[in-house]
Amino acid sequence: MNILLTGGTGLIGQALCKRWLEQGHRLWVWSRSPHEVPKRCGSAVTGVGELSALDQIPLDAVVNLAGAPIADRPWTKSRRLLLWNSRVKLTEQLVTWLSTKEHKPNVLISGSAVGWYGNGGERELNEGDAPITNDFASQLCIAWEESAVVAEQLGIRVALVRTGLVLAPHGGFLQRLKPLFALGLGGRQGNGRQWMPWIHIDDQIALIDFLLRQTDVAGPYNACAPHPERNADFAKAYARSLGRPAFLPVPALALKVGLGELSGLILGGQKAQPSRLLAAGFTFRFDTLDAALADLRNA
Ligand SMILES: NC(=O)c1ccc[n+]([C@@H]2O[C@H](COP(=O)([O-])OP(=O)(O)OC[C@H]3O[C@@H](n4cnc5c(N)ncnc54)[C@H](OP(=O)(O)O)[C@@H]3O)[C@@H](O)[C@H]2O)c1
Repeated sequence: MNILLTGGTGLIGQALCKRWLEQGHRLWVWSRSPHEVPKRCGSAVTGVGELSALDQIPLDAVVNLAGAPIADRPWTKSRRLLLWNSRVKLTEQLVTWLSTKEHKPNVLISGSAVGWYGNGGERELNEGDAPITNDFASQLCIAWEESAVVAEQLGIRVALVRTGLVLAPHGGFLQRLKPLFALGLGGRQGNGRQWMPWIHIDDQIALIDFLLRQTDVAGPYNACAPHPERNADFAKAYARSLGRPAFLPVPALALKVGLGELSGLILGGQKAQPSRLLAAGFTFRFDTLDAALADLRNA
């Protein structure tokens, strides 16, 4: 297949490129740094700085993962604008360009996050549920999804990937936690009761590949393992996998003062279930956190 990725140079995108190159697909990555693309994604992947470079290429699929990192720094006004433009505006630009293409792709697989639901507390969240709270992350995901769904009007199948915390051997969420936990300075955040939906990177790649191949699937999919963990249990399991204790909690007040509204991402959570993926026949290779962490420790 001919596949265009946005965000192809990121954590998930690079792993997808590796998988799809092995399967013989032809890949293009729309990037702010097109010259870096072959180095990051594989020498056979073509980087493009402008979508117009692909006007004459018949694409079979588009995978839209671009977005400035959401948890890296507090959400000042300018940061919110960057987070918004790099997802919502970029997706609008992508879909507008698709509308001009004579040969339209069959499918658009577009990014989102479990943050779409807001802070779900103890409620089990399935794709049929409405957002619980109306915070910035939720508004961002809702607008991001809405801008992608417009492609349905072009006759394109649209699948939305509401991703949980992606656990990978290098990069992503664990890379940020590791320095503290490796020193035995890790612990729960706030009261530790908030739910953390997580997913092993191999399952994230497998499910995007599944959504590409299953021609009858569309709409939102919770991309998280069937067994989310509470924050305190996650901290204990991660520390155990590193052979370290996890005694040092981070108080909620410190997170609120240091991070402002961004602290809501950490102190809130979602007890999300991948109901629609399971119903569609997708099987998770890593459905317990201990199994995922054991695999990542050995990677
Ligand atoms: N990883 C997770 O745990 C997780 C969880 C939930 C949702 N997600 C979402 O899934 C998507 C992919 O995740 P990821 O972890 O692979 O992301 P990532 O490693 O942070 O990569 C995202 C890509 O987005 C592009 N990008 C960054 N800032 C941008 C900006 N200001 N304007 C336009 N493009 C920008 C970059 O591509 P170029 O530099 O090539 O332009 C980058 O490679 C993200 O949108 C993320 O929000 C991820």
